[in-house]
Amino acid sequence: MMNRIIRMLAAVALGLGLIATPVFASGAARKNAEDHAFSFEGPFGQFDRAQLQRGWEVFRQVCASCHSLNYLRFRNLAEPGGPEFTVEQAKAFASQYDITDGPNDEGEMFTRPGRLSDAFPAPYPNEQAAKAANNNALPPDLSLIVKAREGWDYPWYVSPIIKLFKGNGGAEYVRSLISGFEEPPAHEEQKEGLSYNPYFPGHWIAMPPPLSGEDVEYKDGTPNTLKQEATDVAAFLAWVSMPKMEERKKIGLMAMLYLLVFALLMYMVKLALWSKVEH
Ligand code: HEC
Repeated sequence: MMNRIIRMLAAVALGLGLIATPVFASGAARKNAEDHAFSFEGPFGQFDRAQLQRGWEVFRQVCASCHSLNYLRFRNLAEPGGPEFTVEQAKAFASQYDITDGPNDEGEMFTRPGRLSDAFPAPYPNEQAAKAANNNALPPDLSLIVKAREGWDYPWYVSPIIKLFKGNGGAEYVRSLISGFEEPPAHEEQKEGLSYNPYFPGHWIAMPPPLSGEDVEYKDGTPNTLKQEATDVAAFLAWVSMPKMEERKKIGLMAMLYLLVFALLMYMVKLALWSKVEH
């Protein structure tokens, strides 16, 4: 009798928990990112080279004036699994930047054109300078931003399945954030130096809307609308966050195939071994 009551109580508690989780989650301050079917989602998804190349243009022409990308090296742009520019193109990009190097024989630092081995140069020499130029807010390094942010709050018991097929939504978050600036609703007072963005936790962000559409010329003829540019730069940042994703997925697939064949073999071994035993 006692056991039955305890079991019943446990079932009720679990049920309430399952119902309550999404209710609490939906009370979060920010809006869920708008879903977008990126080419790199799911167990077989791969990056779209042309999209990464466009996203690189958006990043370097717009975002790079405030944000660093410390973990990106110019040679990465020509490596397999990324935008796959030619080595000549990557060299040409690098040479457009002045890199501080040294010290030379006189003990002085000097600048020289960038090389493939250089990291993408940061817009500010240090955090203090970055803050001073941005109303005391620090534009974060964007190398890992797509992994550091999630796009949506699903209850824990469906979240792993959603992540398997749609990722963590970090790219969707960046896409929504960049293209989702709005006029603040009537009941909100305009805050000095901040912009209203429903996708940002707390809604007020210290980044002015960086894109408005037609910010960069696309060489491949893709229309450079605000949404398109935001999508492309989000895809590019997803690659910077996960530069080995394509390789990882290929290895994962091979491992699964291997295990499948192995399981089949072991099953046949079991049949053969036990076939001579009376049972
Ligand atoms: C004028 C400078 C400026 C430009 C240009 C700019 N940003 Fe920002 N960005 C900022 C600042 C400042 C913050 C910090 C905002 C805060 O913490 O309130 C920020 C924050 C962010 C964040 C983090 C939001 C979070 O969840 O913490 C992302 C992502 C981002 N920017 C992406 C971009 C992208 C992509 C571009 C190019 C399309 C871009 N930014 C262009 C200044 C800029």
